[in-house]
Amino acid sequence: MQNITVIGAGTMGNGIAHVFAMKNFNVTIVDVSQPALDKAIQTITKNLDRQVSKNAISETDKINTLKNISTNTSIEQGAGSADLVIEAATENTELKLNIFKKLDEVCSSQTILASNTSSISITKIAAVTNRPDKIIGMHFMNPVPVMKLVEVIRGYSTSDIVTETIMNLSKQLNKNPVEVNDYPGFVANRILMPMINEAIYTLNEGVAGVEEIDTVMKLGMAHPMGPLQLADFIGLDVCLSILNVLHSGFGNPKYAPCPLLVNMVTAKNLGIKSGQGFYQYSSTSKELVVASRFNKKELI
Ligand code: CAA
Repeated sequence: MQNITVIGAGTMGNGIAHVFAMKNFNVTIVDVSQPALDKAIQTITKNLDRQVSKNAISETDKINTLKNISTNTSIEQGAGSADLVIEAATENTELKLNIFKKLDEVCSSQTILASNTSSISITKIAAVTNRPDKIIGMHFMNPVPVMKLVEVIRGYSTSDIVTETIMNLSKQLNKNPVEVNDYPGFVANRILMPMINEAIYTLNEGVAGVEEIDTVMKLGMAHPMGPLQLADFIGLDVCLSILNVLHSGFGNPKYAPCPLLVNMVTAKNLGIKSGQGFYQYSSTSKELVVASRFNKKELI
């Protein structure tokens, strides 16, 4: 396994390309947008610079990592000779199914096709291809260069050999893979999203303000970020879409998204990416500038 193609140049795509390229794989990032590809290379360079400045890697490692990455706007050219494709496109079922149909046509029958989906069924993705045994979930966590977990999701038809290959490959990246089965939200988001949703209900009911809720979870439970800041970091639209998958997948009202979350997404307050979520962010950097516009008094 040497040639890795990553579909999608966004945050997850560039993080996945970064970690494979650091381990000397030939990485091609494919995206329909050339500006998005250029931005991905800039982001990877910035994150490598950060690692150099922390003495985590050398300047030579940085140069070699960047040499291992190329970009392409064509899926045929970018994925045609891949041994493994990891799809990290926008979390939209229709879009992902179309990408997998296309990959199934252009890739060798031996190529493993993985998805970084955070909640879409691997079995459903596999069903639109002619290689359901070679379709698997490879769910990285953000920021990919830092987070140790890869949630490896076995679809209904994923073979043992493909699962073993992806588990071993994840270990080669110095990650800790965990194998899970294909059920709504898998494990990570089945547990994380109800916690975030409950934090939003707690805010909505006026029990406490944004900073108070986040402080309780940071200082009381040693979470590196509070659940509301984490929701901003993940993207409120992504949180809502995952909760909708849990709600419809299990048919259980306990997963119903909080109406405040629905309103915020409708109002395009999506978190860091839109500059406004539970907190406000500067337009030039992702630094948190002001705590939330919500406080306990306003909401009671
Ligand atoms: N690339 C490379 N290195 C990075 C980086 C990046 N993108 N981002 C941070 N780092 C490094 C920093 O250089 C720093 O390194 P050292 O420890 O060597 O100094 C380290 O990571 C910590 O970073 P910072 O000091 O800048 O900031 P921090 O201590 O606040 O940590 C954080 C930042 C790692 C993001 C931390 O706040 C954290 O762990 N947050 C929670 C992350 C999380 O829960 N992720 C999962 C989200 S859910 C998901 O992704 C899946 C889904 O389906 C929704």
